Amino acid sequence: MSWSPLRTSLPCSRSLYSQWKRFYTTETFSSPTVRSLLGSNMEAGTHVTVNGWVRSVRKQKQISFANINDGTCVKGLQAILNPEQAEKLSTGACVELKGTLVDSPGKEQGKELQVNSINILGECDGTFPMQKKRHTFEYLRTINHLRARGNAGGALLRVRHAARQGLQDYFAKNEFTQIDTPILTSHDCEGGGEVFKVTPGSVTEKNGQDFFNKPTFLTVSGQLHAEMFASALSRVYTFGPVFRAEESLTSRHLAEFWMLEAEVAFINLQQLLDITEGSIKHTIRHVLDTCPEEMEFFNQYVGKKDKDKNPLLLKRLGKTLDQPFVRMTYGDAIDMLQQQPKKKFQFPTTYGSSLQSEHERFLTSEECQDQPVFVTNYPSDQKPFYMRENDNAKEKPTVACFDLLVPNIGELVGGSMREEREKVLEHKMTLAGMNTEEYDWYLELRKYGSAPHGGYGIGFERLMLMLTGFENVREVVPVPRWVGNCKY
Ligand code: 4AD
Repeated sequence: MSWSPLRTSLPCSRSLYSQWKRFYTTETFSSPTVRSLLGSNMEAGTHVTVNGWVRSVRKQKQISFANINDGTCVKGLQAILNPEQAEKLSTGACVELKGTLVDSPGKEQGKELQVNSINILGECDGTFPMQKKRHTFEYLRTINHLRARGNAGGALLRVRHAARQGLQDYFAKNEFTQIDTPILTSHDCEGGGEVFKVTPGSVTEKNGQDFFNKPTFLTVSGQLHAEMFASALSRVYTFGPVFRAEESLTSRHLAEFWMLEAEVAFINLQQLLDITEGSIKHTIRHVLDTCPEEMEFFNQYVGKKDKDKNPLLLKRLGKTLDQPFVRMTYGDAIDMLQQQPKKKFQFPTTYGSSLQSEHERFLTSEECQDQPVFVTNYPSDQKPFYMRENDNAKEKPTVACFDLLVPNIGELVGGSMREEREKVLEHKMTLAGMNTEEYDWYLELRKYGSAPHGGYGIGFERLMLMLTGFENVREVVPVPRWVGNCKY
């Protein structure tokens, strides 16, 4: 049979349920998900089995209510129980309920479950920390193993999954091939020295031999490897974890984060910006289409509000979709900053100085009225060796590169055209103090049929901040790692 469950048009759970019934036998899954049940058009009176965790219980004299959630949706299913059945229930317990679907008198949901029998799969006592009340995100981080049992944690993981699908869908539609680039590498792509060194656990200072006979690191970026494959398959991308030993404790930095890196042959800088903008907009659209309930939740409970307490997240995402991202050169950005009163900024705004957070904030939030901004053509000395030198630089040498700056987040994407001229690249490497022998393969890509090409890397957690309205990257990764913190 050619049918694939992935082809269902999410989030139309009605069709999800009927397909569950048709294609999965009860041996495969013992029950439908709560999400598919709530969206189904099953007749009142149908008998079903539901598995999940008790989010809350309201016990009354004659009748009790429990909210059952299996992590597939925000709302959960309301179960109606008699006092005897409810007696054994507590928040956090894992249950299997058998019962009959009935029409709900309330507006919240179409159907409820009139429980016939209850099987407690895992009890839960009163010390369970995820009781029905709002917890701070900082607190939830300390109980990360239970965080996904709450609405915010669960919705985050579902939206993260959808965002990944959205990105991959964009690249599939545009004929890219996904490549799995290595995690162990002997190169520091960005040249920042923020690499983690890899050594076998058995190595001590005395017997200290490198496992690979040379220093090896966890990758900071799959770009150099992606370039190998763009030089053969034209359009490729890689999506994986990258590692940076940055000792920054900011809300934007993790030691382990995910990056989507695209690498494309036969394009120029403006086309690279088009692809970047297209991939981000496609992903936002995909998430809004497939996770409406989660996005409404983030809009109400997580994202910022305006001064009249109206939620801003969905409004901002809508605006991001409707308007083109602003494009300006580094030189234009400096001109704009210099037109502001001097005391507005703490850091210098002279041509050649690097753009600081305060400058980026001004450009996105004030100058461009809360729209993402591409800043292109930075001075060469601010950027890594692999970026292509511009031919027509006026004041100072510049490279054909860009940073995509986003309101409230800062840099979301970094990318560039790559230096495709062998001699120029070799010279840049020498200037950067690199051992060109180590990179002979990278130079050979230029020696043998060099193609003009460029690429970019999207910080996936920063994209998640944009999509969900969370303010700290530690909230948008399943198990966060940052300096001093590697629990679990
Ligand atoms: O600007 P970066 O360093 O670019 C590169 O690594 C290129 N080699 C990518 C490429 O062209 N293929 O990093 C790309 C993005 C940043 O814009 C930011 O969104 C994110 O990665 N990022 C981080 N995210 C979380 N924690 C950190 N420590 C991050 N460092 C960078």
